[in-house]
Amino acid sequence: MIKTVSSEEIENQYEYMKKIKELDIQRKYYINTMGCKLNENDSEKISGMLSQIGYEETNSPEDANLVVFNTCCIRENAEEKVFGKLGELKNIKEKNNMIICFAGCMSQEKHVIEKIKKSYPYVDVIFGTHNLYKFPEMLHEKIVKTKRVFDVWDIDGEIFEGLPIKRVGDKSACVTIMNGCNNFCSYCIVPYTRGRERSRKPEDIINEIKELANNGYKEVMLLGQNVNSYKGGENYNFANLLRDIDKIEGIDIVRFMSPHPKDFKDDVIEAIAESKSVSKVIHLPLQSGSTAVLKAMNRGYSKEQYLELVDKIRNKVPNVTFTTDIIVGFPGETEEDFEDTLDIVRKVCFEQVFMFIYSVRKGTRAEKMEGHIPEEIKSRRFNRLKELADRITEEENYKYIDTIQKVLVEGESKTNKDVLTGRTSSNKVVNFVGDKNLIGKEINVKIVSQHIWYLKGEIID
Ligand code: 5AD
Ligand code: SF4
Repeated sequence: MIKTVSSEEIENQYEYMKKIKELDIQRKYYINTMGCKLNENDSEKISGMLSQIGYEETNSPEDANLVVFNTCCIRENAEEKVFGKLGELKNIKEKNNMIICFAGCMSQEKHVIEKIKKSYPYVDVIFGTHNLYKFPEMLHEKIVKTKRVFDVWDIDGEIFEGLPIKRVGDKSACVTIMNGCNNFCSYCIVPYTRGRERSRKPEDIINEIKELANNGYKEVMLLGQNVNSYKGGENYNFANLLRDIDKIEGIDIVRFMSPHPKDFKDDVIEAIAESKSVSKVIHLPLQSGSTAVLKAMNRGYSKEQYLELVDKIRNKVPNVTFTTDIIVGFPGETEEDFEDTLDIVRKVCFEQVFMFIYSVRKGTRAEKMEGHIPEEIKSRRFNRLKELADRITEEENYKYIDTIQKVLVEGESKTNKDVLTGRTSSNKVVNFVGDKNLIGKEINVKIVSQHIWYLKGEIID
């Protein structure tokens, strides 16, 4: 279903941005983004609005007059971290005349709001995932009326278009195509924090990507909690969208995350196979290799069905590879269930496995299930899975040695300024020595060694 915020409402927000811009205030902001790519993309929208108001970004909260926490609640440790970070700001808030804003998925949780109301009186603005576009209005209210502004909606917010965006990268961009999830996997908090599925209009997505291409972007990552439930119209689905994006000149790589295996239909497989730009690395969240656990997770597929899907995609898309998400220690997971997960990991030979220890989320169905697994067993299983996944990644990486790869150069390595970093078309990180003017270009690199998380290469002419 497509629901879009009215253009009058968006104009309204531009008015608030103008009003704040005219105020005599100090304008340095720091944004702390936790969690997934969707949150990163939301932060780019928050940054876009703040830049429009005349705020400048700083890398340190100590220098900031405005701090935004864009939070994640998918697992418990993410939640704990943010309260620690909030505490650290208490003492510098007054000195910097600082406004503290709390946004993102955690602010959609009632117990979190209660905790902030009671124990963190120095948090000034709380807004949720549904009303992000109203940030200028809320900020204006806080500054002008100097009172706390709490605005979190229970109902699903509408898709908004036309507000500014300040992107982190200049070659690769995230583009949200849909938001929300209708699946209610029993462990997952997302359907409660992001609401039901809403899709953007195809023309809005296509125009955004065309503009990115005009501005020199080479790669887009299409985002949604369940991208293959995208519905752009009566007869327009994710396969149609992939085909239309593939026609856009200048975009060399199109990635997407995350699809749901149960909704991965033949038309999408064909669109991937026939496209020139859609990446042949597919992120296909497995979650567990045991049919019994998958059933308890409400995933809608069995171990065999997942393997059949992988086979089907392999048959139709030459050179395809897979990455995945796996949760270990789901309530009731037996040793045999876990062995099934190891078995499927061996069979599919994933390029990369993102592994998570099951974390209880308040209000989900799994919270009330029997057979919660002791932490010690969960972490032992996690380590066993990691060992296997690392070994497979290593074996897959060895296949790259002595090959020549086309690499899109992304920038300097975070840990060594003399080294450049980029990614192969199969999304492998490659580090190599090279001149900074190569950033943004596609070059040929010969792979010389592998280091599990990255490959080392040498530029060839
Ligand atoms: N505990 C552990 N991992 C989780 N994920 C989602 N919910 C939980 C949870 N309660 C993982 C899933 C999902 C990824 C984004 O996070 O593997 O695909
Ligand atoms: Fe969560 Fe499942 Fe929806 Fe993914 S598909 S966001 S895991 S409920």
